[in-house]
Amino acid sequence: MKITSPSVASSDVLPGAPQLAYRQDGLYMEDVRLDALASQHGTPVFVYSRAAMLAALAAYQRGFAGRNAQICYAMKANSSLGVLQVFARAGCGFDIVSGGELERVQAAGGDMRKVIFSGVGKTRPEMKQALEAGIGCFNVESEAELDVLSGVALAMHRIAPVSIRVNPNVDPKTHPYISTGLKGNKFGVAHEDALQIYRHAASLKGLQVVGIDCHIGSQITEATPYLDAMDRVLDLVQSIEAAGIPIEHIDFGGGLGINYNQDSPPAADALWQELLGKLDARGYGSKKLMVEPGRSLVGNAGVCLTEVLYLKPGEEKNFCIIDAAMNDLPRPAMYQAFHAIVPVVPRRGTSTTVYDVVGPVCESGDWIGRDRALTVAAGDRLAVLSAGAYCMSMASNYNTRGRAAEILVDGTQAHLIRARETAADTFRGEKLLP
Ligand code: LLP
Repeated sequence: MKITSPSVASSDVLPGAPQLAYRQDGLYMEDVRLDALASQHGTPVFVYSRAAMLAALAAYQRGFAGRNAQICYAMKANSSLGVLQVFARAGCGFDIVSGGELERVQAAGGDMRKVIFSGVGKTRPEMKQALEAGIGCFNVESEAELDVLSGVALAMHRIAPVSIRVNPNVDPKTHPYISTGLKGNKFGVAHEDALQIYRHAASLKGLQVVGIDCHIGSQITEATPYLDAMDRVLDLVQSIEAAGIPIEHIDFGGGLGINYNQDSPPAADALWQELLGKLDARGYGSKKLMVEPGRSLVGNAGVCLTEVLYLKPGEEKNFCIIDAAMNDLPRPAMYQAFHAIVPVVPRRGTSTTVYDVVGPVCESGDWIGRDRALTVAAGDRLAVLSAGAYCMSMASNYNTRGRAAEILVDGTQAHLIRARETAADTFRGEKLLP
């Protein structure tokens, strides 16, 4: 199966990747030539642009200029220490979901008072660890969790600051696996039950109610679901405060989408301008605001460089077999997600063939891109784009594949922020039978 297609303009094939551009000798991130990085560090390797992360953050900062607002980076998107340092140094707090993430924030020098702890299944040891660390707020997701947290805090002679995650029941219009604000999903407490649960929280001696939060889903590309969720949350703030329980902060979660493939989410500053207009109109403009963006801060700042191992023509499909796989880039296998795939050093003059780009893992689900027109030969390098979020942080060792190396680019500098895992690293901690 062979087709020849006109070559695509590079601006069309670099969706949303602000610090990536082709120069005469191939693809650059900031002022670093990616082919040279791949030669030096091997493939697969993730490469992130510090400038792209800070530019994404700046859009939120512009949106909140003059407001009392805290941006808590949802570190599940990419929890590598070097990435956390970039955000900690820029004044961000962190949204964590485990004791492990808490230790990462500590290792990266983050400010514990700016940490919020989300998740439906916090364990008692995690609650204790977070209270000892002095985090800013627990985002509680059920009534049962309130009782347990109060008990843990009282036993430590502490008071736990809490916000309750309410489920606004709005449709974020995204993939069902990453939609979280609808009835029938495990997150948050029902809108109808929220007031009674706030009363319960206020009655518990180990807790101090400080806020309210929501998060409706991920990769959201429209403003409407946010506007609807804000209305629902503000209705609750009104009734909770009328019941004599003051709400210091409102946390609107994360979820803003990025451009993977002709997606056009609103820019963070434009979105927040619109949302703040509503907040002001309803009289809550002076409240402390929090947000928990993950993907929109890092997604388009990263690429995964990979090498073409073999080209395998087939009767129905041609396969381009690369050295990155579903263990490195799990999103296509898990969500049928699209990541653009482009050459690191484009070839000129040869014909283009349509391939399924697949990895070496022994699963038919191990595909990275389907039906991609590429001009490639074995040994060429490709860049998988928009790989800054939910790739390395979701990577596994399946097929005993060590996880990839990671590099942070800053201008002309390239810092190795994670060494490639060796096979021995992957079975460290395992014990042989006597
Ligand atoms: N806050 C809470 C409570 C969350 O559950 C999440 C993401 C975020 C904030 C950050 O959302 P973001 O701004 O990144 O959309 N693995 C999936 C995405 C899962 C998102 C889980 N929660 C993917 O690769 O698309």
